[in-house]
Amino acid sequence: MAHKPGTPPKADLPPYFNIDPAEAAAKLADPIDTARFAKAASFAMRGRDDLARRGYAPDGAKRLRRFSTWEVCRYLIPVNPAHLRRVLRQNPDLPQGEGEGGSKWFTLEEVLRLRDHFAEEGAKDREYRAWRPEGLPAKVVAVANFKGGVGKTSTCAHLAMSAALDGYKVLVIDLDSQGSMTSIMGGKVEDEWQTVFPMLARDYARHLQQENKVREAAGQKPFQFDETLTAALEVSPRNLVQKTHWPNIDLIGAQLNLYWAEFQVPVWRMQMLSWPLWDALTNALEEGGDAG
Ligand SMILES: Nc1ncnc2c1ncn2[C@@H]1O[C@H](COP(=O)(O)OP(=O)(O)OP(=O)(O)O)[C@@H](O)[C@H]1O
Ligand SMILES: [Mg+2]
Repeated sequence: MAHKPGTPPKADLPPYFNIDPAEAAAKLADPIDTARFAKAASFAMRGRDDLARRGYAPDGAKRLRRFSTWEVCRYLIPVNPAHLRRVLRQNPDLPQGEGEGGSKWFTLEEVLRLRDHFAEEGAKDREYRAWRPEGLPAKVVAVANFKGGVGKTSTCAHLAMSAALDGYKVLVIDLDSQGSMTSIMGGKVEDEWQTVFPMLARDYARHLQQENKVREAAGQKPFQFDETLTAALEVSPRNLVQKTHWPNIDLIGAQLNLYWAEFQVPVWRMQMLSWPLWDALTNALEEGGDAG
């Protein structure tokens, strides 16, 4: 019904007026406790596993596809198909590929072996292996951008896979708590202790130990050295690295808990401004190997 101009509209009070708190509270369901969250998490985990099993393989693990003779000769090894077939016939020990007829399918492991064979035995004037000067340290490539959704993760994944197809050994380090790169590489990460977090913590712990020696000598109260830092000193970067479905790509994965580092790292920085955070990862990588 249209109301008459000049008179205020007559309406019931909106439902959020005159609420009786006790009555409203009585209508609420039981509070959600951690057991409910645990149940939801376990549902989500089962859903994820189910998807992985349907999408990848019955065991939920990712598998790298095979490469055809055409792909191998066109993109991976500079050799023509007829010559490749001849070399395979002459060398029954080499991987012969799977499949009927002229076109065979090779795993990447097999492609890498074939490439090594050609590098040893093939034409001397051809570069079969990707350029890798002896004795130089690994190249570090970081993909970063302040903008969201601009293709950082995709760029990183393609860089890693392209380098791997060229035959380089690649270590992918996922620094994003979203963990999309980790999913792409089929990684499994339980908690922040299997991410790069303990490497940052260990670096900080060592600097703190040094700083505390200085403070002690100067008669100052040492900074607190908590359980996290003590535990981090025991972690070796080597134990964080996992294999992937790519024979020459390894991964240090990420997971939602890594988000914690975004709070913890500034706290550490504020406590000890002299800690060179930016070197923490490089230090861990350069040292490689063992804890202690
Ligand atoms: N070159 C491209 N052309 C078209 N689409 C792309 C390209 N690169 C990435 N995308 C798509 O854009 C979307 C975002 O990409 P991606 O996840 O790599 O971005 P991001 O920067 O890592 O995002 P986030 O900030 O959420 O981490 C994805 O759906 C991806 O498939
Ligand atoms: Mg991303």
